[in-house]
Amino acid sequence: MDHFQYQGGRLCAEDVALADIADDVGTPFYVYSTATLERHYNVFAEALSGLDATICFSVKSNSNIAVIRTLANLGAGADVVSGGELKRALMAGVAPEKIVFSGVGKTALELADALRAGVMQINIESEPELEALSRVAMELGVEATIGLRVNPDVDARTHAKITTGRGENKFGIEWTRAHEVYARAAAMPGINPVGLAMHIGSQLGELSPFDDAFMRIKDLVATLRADGLAVESLDLGGGLGIPYGDQAEPLPGPAQYGEKVKAAFSDLGCRMIFEPGRVIAGNAGILVTRVIYVKEGATRNFLIVDAAMNDLTRPSLYDAYHDIVAISEPAAGDKSDTYDVVGPICETGDTFCRERSLPRQAAGNLLAVRTAGAYGAVMASTYNTRALVPEVLVRGGDYAVVRRRLEVEDLLDIEQQPSWLK
Ligand code: LLP
Repeated sequence: MDHFQYQGGRLCAEDVALADIADDVGTPFYVYSTATLERHYNVFAEALSGLDATICFSVKSNSNIAVIRTLANLGAGADVVSGGELKRALMAGVAPEKIVFSGVGKTALELADALRAGVMQINIESEPELEALSRVAMELGVEATIGLRVNPDVDARTHAKITTGRGENKFGIEWTRAHEVYARAAAMPGINPVGLAMHIGSQLGELSPFDDAFMRIKDLVATLRADGLAVESLDLGGGLGIPYGDQAEPLPGPAQYGEKVKAAFSDLGCRMIFEPGRVIAGNAGILVTRVIYVKEGATRNFLIVDAAMNDLTRPSLYDAYHDIVAISEPAAGDKSDTYDVVGPICETGDTFCRERSLPRQAAGNLLAVRTAGAYGAVMASTYNTRALVPEVLVRGGDYAVVRRRLEVEDLLDIEQQPSWLK
């Protein structure tokens, strides 16, 4: 459920017509709906009611400070994976004691920043990282609260590029060694292990992979405790899939996920941490783009639009499906055509969809690429010297530009010439 619906024939974000935003800020642009963000957060929180849970919004999915702040106002914490994301979460007003710092390659500088900020917990993914954190904590004269990220070696059955919980993936400590590493951490100076963490992948279309992972985590808690080691918190990561418009079957949602979590962990008496990203932000955002040309090719019709793979990379990177809709509601009896919707970048991979049936289009029309609120703007690049597009946040009948367009001049300004070329 989202808040991008037609009203009087015009696609709106809540009560604001997207065509009006386009006139104001130009295209392309991302637009997010406050009501959808809030709804998704509340549904997720509701599904976990009864647990002692902190919901740490995964900032990597959408790191706009206004988006994080919207969620923080509802009580959300943040899952961050870099010093940059940590800064954003703090700027958005997330309390440090609700921030979890994850990530496979945190540098000593980033670890020190996190310790100085007083984050809730740092999730450790390797022994060298554990040793580095111990050194940093000793230098600062503090104790680092850590979760040990365990790699449970299960197949999340999602896209190969976003599966993270198999033995061959770079993430976490092999579950077979986790006990030994946890015990080692407990004996290390400056380190206080409080629990375990896991994240097996993203865009999970079924919940069964969680069963195996949860079982391994549960077993581990039991053996650690039997050894006299305290396990007070469990961080179950993110990963719930969302509908992009191409799934035949309805996907399991937060309610079913919550049931599973409660069945597995209610009796352990642990504080629980969750790191949802996509399920909160995905359907809360769209990318609006304008048709530059309609090109009738020998075998295909192309809609060449002003957004490209640098603005939304998911279709080219993962062959991801995103619904594309017209911003003017098609009337009954309007003709459709089959189009490839493509951007202006000089690569065939710069394609949003192939052979998609859409209402007949003309140059100048506006289209919306749906479900672009997660892993959209955050993954943008400036390839082809295309500057970054603005982000707009809507709330009811109001909207605000929450990240201005990065102009080409801004990009050129950060370059300088060596003396021998001046
Ligand atoms: N926690 C950890 C440790 C993660 O690595 C991730 C995502 C999350 C939480 C949030 O997962 P979510 O709830 O959003 O599934 N760029 C890809 C997705 C990469 C996900 C990376 N990790 C895409 O566009 O599909």
